[in-house]
Amino acid sequence: MAYLLKGVSILGGKPTDLHLGDDGLITDRSDDKAEVIDATGLVALPGLVDVHTHLREPGREDAETVETGSRAAALGGYTAVCAMANTSPVADTAGVVEQVWRLGREAGLVDVQPIGAVTVGLAGKQMAELGAMATSAAKVRIFSDDGFCVADPKLMRRALEYVKAFDGVIAQHAEEPRLTEGAQMHEGEVSTRLGLTGWPAVAEEAIIARDVLLAEHVGSRLHVCHVSTAGSVEVLRQAKARGVRVTAEVTPHHLLLTDEMASGYDPVFKVNPPLRTARDVDALRQALLDGVIDVVATDHAPHAVQDKECEWSYARPGMLGLETALPIVLSVFGEKWELIADRMSIAPARIAGLAGHGGDLTKAGSPANLTLVDPSARWVVEPGGLASRSSNTPYAGMTLPGRIVATFLRGEATVLDGKAVK
Ligand code: DOR
Ligand code: ZN
Repeated sequence: MAYLLKGVSILGGKPTDLHLGDDGLITDRSDDKAEVIDATGLVALPGLVDVHTHLREPGREDAETVETGSRAAALGGYTAVCAMANTSPVADTAGVVEQVWRLGREAGLVDVQPIGAVTVGLAGKQMAELGAMATSAAKVRIFSDDGFCVADPKLMRRALEYVKAFDGVIAQHAEEPRLTEGAQMHEGEVSTRLGLTGWPAVAEEAIIARDVLLAEHVGSRLHVCHVSTAGSVEVLRQAKARGVRVTAEVTPHHLLLTDEMASGYDPVFKVNPPLRTARDVDALRQALLDGVIDVVATDHAPHAVQDKECEWSYARPGMLGLETALPIVLSVFGEKWELIADRMSIAPARIAGLAGHGGDLTKAGSPANLTLVDPSARWVVEPGGLASRSSNTPYAGMTLPGRIVATFLRGEATVLDGKAVK
């Protein structure tokens, strides 16, 4: 169906009419049969793209499925998500990545781009069939053992070399495992006070420093997942200044929350890497503004009730992110629409190689992948009111700015009036 978005503000610009053709492209021609949406006061952004989403299927469909996660994504303003490989079975073969890709197509709410594992079973011992995943129907370009670090430097080097042939990228979960054995939260004053084993910042920084040197040596692409410390930002700043092909992401929660949240031992705040200090949060915000950190990625990590509502040390790390990411970024940075479009759509689409996403909404012929935000709306996060199958949001009860009113995937509405269409 064709749509006319009347009086919409593209990236905060002055009100205009935006036509979505029934061919799924943005057009400058009007169509009498177009459905008219009064978009007065709404801001259009290119559809958001998440380079780091856990959809849990196959294996933990009790926590999330490709369909429920896709719905959460569309409601959060996303038109594409990259699905992490730590499923069960692990997405380490062409068969599993094709299964996830097919489930995404069937759900039809966002483009689901599978990420492939770097090593067989995420075990860190033997390289997975990266080439077979790259040439499969899923056309995998990002490989990651996320949840675990590719700790073996020789294996990391080989993986970087291997993906260079098809301009692939290795997305590293930077955590030196020997330095985080038994870790429960950020190592610092709060962990000492609470008596919990600490996860030191240097465990992340040491791996990033090693990996930017490996990427530089090999001339290949490295992406750093969920950067969480001020020291990591400095390592990345120096590497980028030298021209190393490295990109980096930060999560909404690391831009907002600190290790103080652990004080009540509520496992909803347990996440990996852990929440850090206010000084780290400041450095991450500045790095996103500077472009030292390229993108905001959610690390949406749904967990079933029994895996989260238990004693801190037994709880799984991770928190929901898709439905609150844009509101959190708005609350941290305000209405910096150009910045938001770049860090949440244009740059992530470029990193993931998703050509149809992160396009220019003012250009006729661009795919109509976009979202409409009401920046003046305020809403209260209710865990039961989210579309995710899980409810482990750290923002429960918080009032957030910015409501997603509509999302379009290739010109088809996936969200209208703030509700998923299917
Ligand atoms: O908090 C996290 N949760 N960090 C990870 O690296 C993995 C993720 C998950 O899969 O739950
Ligand atoms: Zn991770």
